[in-house]
Amino acid sequence: MRTLLTGGAGYIGSHTAIAMIEAGHEVAVVDNYYNSSPEAIRRVEQITGKKIALYEADSADKDRMREILAKERPDCIIHFAGLKAVGESVAKPVEYYRNNIDTTLTLLECMKELGLTNFVFSSSATVYGEDNIPPFTETMPKGACTNPYGWTKWMQEQILRDAAFASEKEDSKLSVVLLRYFNPVGAHESGLIGEDPQGIPNNLMPYISQVAVRRRDHLTVFGDDYDTPDGTCRRDYIHVMDLAEGHVAAAEYAVNNKGTEVFNLGTGNPYSVLDMVKAFSNACGHPVKYEIGPRRAGDVQDSWANADKAKEVLGWEAKRGIDEICRDAWNWQSHNPNGYDK
Ligand code: NAD
Ligand code: UD1
Repeated sequence: MRTLLTGGAGYIGSHTAIAMIEAGHEVAVVDNYYNSSPEAIRRVEQITGKKIALYEADSADKDRMREILAKERPDCIIHFAGLKAVGESVAKPVEYYRNNIDTTLTLLECMKELGLTNFVFSSSATVYGEDNIPPFTETMPKGACTNPYGWTKWMQEQILRDAAFASEKEDSKLSVVLLRYFNPVGAHESGLIGEDPQGIPNNLMPYISQVAVRRRDHLTVFGDDYDTPDGTCRRDYIHVMDLAEGHVAAAEYAVNNKGTEVFNLGTGNPYSVLDMVKAFSNACGHPVKYEIGPRRAGDVQDSWANADKAKEVLGWEAKRGIDEICRDAWNWQSHNPNGYDK
């Protein structure tokens, strides 16, 4: 299968490129490097020994995307490109709606013109909102999101569903797979690629990693007064290579089916913030310093997946646990303390 990964130089895209190549598929990547570096793709080539067609382009640019898609004619597009920082989306909502929604609309328009039909989309567990109770199943209604980033995912899911539904009456019937990721963490076991956030990390695992490598003094735990066993929030942390392998299964499903399907990509196992601090301390061999701080606005207490559907329909399930997650995150961070900038 020929695949095209928008945002493929980013964290999840670069790991998915490896999993795709290892499964015997071809990979082309489009990225504007807003939040990434072509060095990630160079390293994917080093790991896999395969050449990747790499295009520097904005996925919302219709002329460029038409040209690239006409040349590559992918059997499946996997659309990772997007802005993803929750806090920034509150400060810059228009940029978030413009970038995230325009990229999806542009791709749909180009696909229609070129007769391309298969699409996998990076959605998020954030679409379950605050009122559903975990474990989240795909049949639960989407909830109200707590920030513009979440709404862009919610809206893109809707746009894609509507486009697939309308295409049922057309010659080129779309196949859309919506993947709701839980908390992607960890790195490729080679330690050559991993998560490389710009500035101060917003998310837990990159923050812990930077404390462990002594780039930051300590982690602030956002609240220990939740109604959970240790008082800290619980999440479903999924190894990024498990997530990457989920995309292989999803793309193979997309090319063999029509209509819209949605899958949770999670492990089904919740871990608290303090569980993750402990597991990381074991992996790096010294205690990760932390202090308890106030709750973070917008945080939900609990979020984890019911991951049965992906297992039943895609034959995929997460295989790696939190010890492997922390081992691989530490391997990446300790060998690349400043990410891709040496
Ligand atoms: P990332 O920022 O590392 O990767 C996104 C990539 O898209 C970057 O390389 C960026 O440069 C590129 N990009 C952004 N806008 C673009 C545009 N207009 N044209 C071309 N390239 C563009 O993020 P990630 O963690 O790899 O996330 C990938 C996708 O998964 C995103 O859509 C994100 O919202 C979604 N997602 C991520 C998480 C997570 O925790 N990492 C969770 C749920 C969903
Ligand atoms: C965040 C986003 C969510 C997005 C997800 C994956 C918010 C409110 N939500 O979710 O929309 O889909 O990332 O990218 O930002 N924590 C600390 N200290 C820190 C950082 C985090 O204690 O410095 C805690 C948080 O309170 C949370 C857990 O660690 O309980 C995980 O946080 P994070 O990695 O930011 O992910 P989510 O909150 O699940």
